[in-house]
Amino acid sequence: METRQSNSPDNAPLENLEEWEDFVKERYPESLVGTNPNKKEEQFRDYENTARPSVREFYRLNHQHQTLDFVQAKHREFLDNRRREMSIWEALEFLNTLVDDSDPDTDLSQLDHLLQTAEQIRKDGHPRWFILTGLIHDIGKILCLFGEPQWAVVGDTFPVGCAYSDKIVFPRFFEANPDFTNPKYQTRLGIYEENRGLDSVQMSWGHDEYLYNIVKDYLPTEALYMIRYHSFYPAHRENEYGYLMNDEDRRMMDWVRKFNPYDLYTKSHTKPDMKELRPFYDDLISEFLPAKLKW
Ligand SMILES: [Fe+2]
Ligand SMILES: [Fe+2]
Repeated sequence: METRQSNSPDNAPLENLEEWEDFVKERYPESLVGTNPNKKEEQFRDYENTARPSVREFYRLNHQHQTLDFVQAKHREFLDNRRREMSIWEALEFLNTLVDDSDPDTDLSQLDHLLQTAEQIRKDGHPRWFILTGLIHDIGKILCLFGEPQWAVVGDTFPVGCAYSDKIVFPRFFEANPDFTNPKYQTRLGIYEENRGLDSVQMSWGHDEYLYNIVKDYLPTEALYMIRYHSFYPAHRENEYGYLMNDEDRRMMDWVRKFNPYDLYTKSHTKPDMKELRPFYDDLISEFLPAKLKW
């Protein structure tokens, strides 16, 4: 299968998608898990100043272009019209054709990351749907293979159509977003109602929201929150946007928080043994998901 990425420097400042994830890990080191987010404001500014130019440019594009109109257009483009039918394995293999100039110190693929995440969740004795969530949570990155720019596939997500939290990394870059000058979208609630629930809120577009929509009929609510909001760092790490959430969102955010360390900190240099693991995951996938999904 041919690998296609929009590689013009305008759209692809990052050398690879992991560069964004590495930056998130620098901001939220494992040692800070469970600590008060307000305590590290000083450091936060440092992370912005010491970020690589490629990461800074990536966020500049993301914050500039993720408007409410853009998000709604992407919903129509990718969710109302599906491109192909694929099983989970076919989608995983498709994702694995995304070979960007990977980290030189690791030769782990996208699929390896997903298997390692799932295996760690499995080792810790979590429910089967939780393991499955680990396996599939990043498959939405196939958006890159459909030609989508990096800033519309990965990045910390945030609500659009209301004021931006200043806890979102690089908040100044929002000044170039057309929504920034629309007063309707710049009040605390914007187009939303207080505590109406995240389901009524449009999030910036990326691999999270995309995959959520593909699998939303098949997985438990906890799993769907993990998939849909795993990059919503302003909420699950900074405790922002509580006024948009309802009680269920607040309860479910705890599951997103439970998932996040597996996503960020599972890094082993040993390649998972596909042959040995395949039967377990075949069973797991067919327990929850249909043979083919529409992508
Ligand atoms: Fe992700
Ligand atoms: Fe991930």
